[in-house]
Amino acid sequence: MERGLSLLIAAVMLFVAPGVQAADNFSFATNATVNITNTGCGKTKLCIQTPDNCDPAGNSSCFFASVAAGNTTAPNGTELMFQLSGNSTGYIALGLTANATQGTTALYICAQNSSNNASFFFAARQRDNINNTLSTFNATVTKIRGQVVNGTIQCEFSVPNLNATNTRSADSTTYVVILGSGTFNGNDFGTFTTSKTTDPLNLANVANPTTASPTTTKNSASGALHSHALTVLLTVLTLFILKTA
Ligand SMILES: *[C@@H]1O[C@H](CO)[C@@H](O)[C@H](O)[C@H]1NC(C)=O
Ligand SMILES: *[C@@H]1O[C@H](CO)[C@@H](O)[C@H](O)[C@H]1NC(C)=O
Ligand SMILES: *[C@@H]1O[C@H](CO)[C@@H](O)[C@H](O)[C@H]1NC(C)=O
Ligand SMILES: *[C@@H]1O[C@H](CO)[C@@H](O)[C@H](O)[C@H]1NC(C)=O
Ligand SMILES: *[C@@H]1O[C@H](CO)[C@@H](O)[C@H](O)[C@H]1NC(C)=O
Ligand SMILES: *[C@@H]1O[C@H](CO)[C@@H](O)[C@H](O)[C@H]1NC(C)=O
Ligand SMILES: *[C@@H]1O[C@H](CO)[C@@H](O)[C@H](O)[C@H]1NC(C)=O
Ligand SMILES: *[C@@H]1O[C@H](CO)[C@@H](O)[C@H](O)[C@H]1NC(C)=O
Ligand SMILES: *[C@@H]1O[C@H](CO)[C@@H](O)[C@H](O)[C@H]1NC(C)=O
Ligand SMILES: *[C@@H]1O[C@H](CO)[C@@H](O)[C@H](O)[C@H]1NC(C)=O
Ligand SMILES: *[C@@H]1O[C@H](CO)[C@@H](O)[C@H](O)[C@H]1NC(C)=O
Ligand SMILES: *[C@@H]1O[C@H](CO)[C@@H](O)[C@H](O)[C@H]1NC(C)=O
Repeated sequence: MERGLSLLIAAVMLFVAPGVQAADNFSFATNATVNITNTGCGKTKLCIQTPDNCDPAGNSSCFFASVAAGNTTAPNGTELMFQLSGNSTGYIALGLTANATQGTTALYICAQNSSNNASFFFAARQRDNINNTLSTFNATVTKIRGQVVNGTIQCEFSVPNLNATNTRSADSTTYVVILGSGTFNGNDFGTFTTSKTTDPLNLANVANPTTASPTTTKNSASGALHSHALTVLLTVLTLFILKTA
């Protein structure tokens, strides 16, 4: 049984190990007009702001994010659609994690590329929550649009097939959301500085997000997000272990 367990852990580590292929290969519309306002907050979208309740429309000191849930295709997961607005000479980012003080965060990054006429740029990184280092992250992100207006970065993007229950005993759409920013020189993203960290929120429950059931991290080595592939891998491994034990 011990052999089985270490095999299992090794497999999980392998799956989540950094070094996943660089994925700065997103296609997106630059200079796409995105209209991000706080209209609909608490009704059609869940809004996370700093300062509290600020309106991103015409206000560069408002750091704003919103989330709306799209279709759910069980067991693959739920599509979540995000908006992000904030001023930065580098990047602003939204992170999803199980616990901001352990494991990893999936960071979705909207930036202005100072080495390309301050044009909009999109990327994804995995952040280590302990030492705050960023590593490449093979994320699937769709419907990316963004613009940089007067130093304010505004973007929209969609993450399909999110399913938190693969790593935690919680609602499949429950995450801690982190907002933050950093520098970007056209090649490297500087240290991520956190502006806001939420409690665990059920991102699909706009009216009452904090009624999320308490999260217990099942596997602290993983933390952030996993595709359906991990479930399949674990199932196969469990069967294998049961067979060999
Ligand atoms: C990254 O994702 C692409 C598309 O899903 C996949 O083809 C590729 O194998 C993945 N790379 C790694 C290292 O997981
Ligand atoms: C980036 O996209 C191009 C064309 O879509 C593809 O040829 C290339 O393999 C991709 N690179 C990575 C690292 O995914
Ligand atoms: C985006 O818009 C800015 C300002 O209107 C302009 O200077 C820049 O050339 C545009 N970039 C692209 C890629 O269209
Ligand atoms: C932006 O959205 C708001 C509310 O959704 C709407 O009132 C406004 O007309 C829109 N502005 C533009 C330029 O589309
Ligand atoms: C911008 O937002 C901040 C914080 O909510 C607020 O104090 C300020 O009055 C707003 N400015 C404008 C022009 O709306
Ligand atoms: C950017 O936002 C911060 C607050 O988040 C504010 O203090 C600063 O004045 C803003 N900078 C500009 C250029 O608007
Ligand atoms: C949800 O699915 C329906 C039917 O497939 C589709 O028409 C709709 O655009 C989807 N919604 C989103 C947000 O993708
Ligand atoms: C779930 O994902 C798998 C693999 O990406 C795909 O083949 C399948 O069609 C998806 N199922 C649904 C219901 O979308
Ligand atoms: C999330 O994954 C679990 C198993 O990993 C599955 O039972 C459940 O149906 C999935 N939920 C959604 C909404 O896809
Ligand atoms: C997050 O992890 C810390 C230990 O790193 C733990 O003390 C805390 O209870 C965890 N929070 C949640 C909500 O699980
Ligand atoms: C940060 O921690 C991860 C694993 O916890 C480790 O792989 C990485 O080397 C560390 N980075 C630094 C700069 O310490
Ligand atoms: C950009 O800032 C300048 C000076 O503050 C202002 O006159 C202009 O209207 C702003 N442009 C937009 C699109 O907000």
